[in-house]
Amino acid sequence: MILDHIAYRVKDRLAAVERHEQLGYNVETVFVVPFEDGSEAHCSVLVPEEGPEVFISEGTPGSIVDRWVDNHGGVGAVHHIAYRVDSVEEVMNDMLEKGIKFLSDKPLTCPGLVQVFTEPDPVTGIIYEFIERENEGFCVENVKDLMLSTDLLMPPRRTDNEIHLIGRVDGEYEE
Ligand SMILES: [Fe+2]
Repeated sequence: MILDHIAYRVKDRLAAVERHEQLGYNVETVFVVPFEDGSEAHCSVLVPEEGPEVFISEGTPGSIVDRWVDNHGGVGAVHHIAYRVDSVEEVMNDMLEKGIKFLSDKPLTCPGLVQVFTEPDPVTGIIYEFIERENEGFCVENVKDLMLSTDLLMPPRRTDNEIHLIGRVDGEYEE
């Protein structure tokens, strides 16, 4: 298995892109993932001269990515590390036998691309992705489905009224 990409979820994507440009990466692709609830994930893919790509996403307020960042310190963090394999299905079956849990029942597919996320690892705390690819790049539909698969890990979305009440308890809001 070789490292395919490292994925960050951050509050400020453009600042994170700039940091990686300072580290010698170049922006390869930028795209938006739209969700049914109207929220979006804005994504940048950066490539180094050699080695694994970096995938950086930022979500609109209340989106899956934005809530994940809020639940992980509010700035940003590595969300997952992806390993390239010959067969995602075979690796998944092998890992399932070893007790590794996954965020979807089956690998997610796009033309030329097969991907799946593990649950956060009980030993390292990180989500691992296994990816099988015939060509470079990502596809919006798979990114969307992968992001949706991680939503199961998030605390339930709070209503505006609940947020308001929490704010009152914390003394942040005044009438
Ligand atoms: Fe990924």
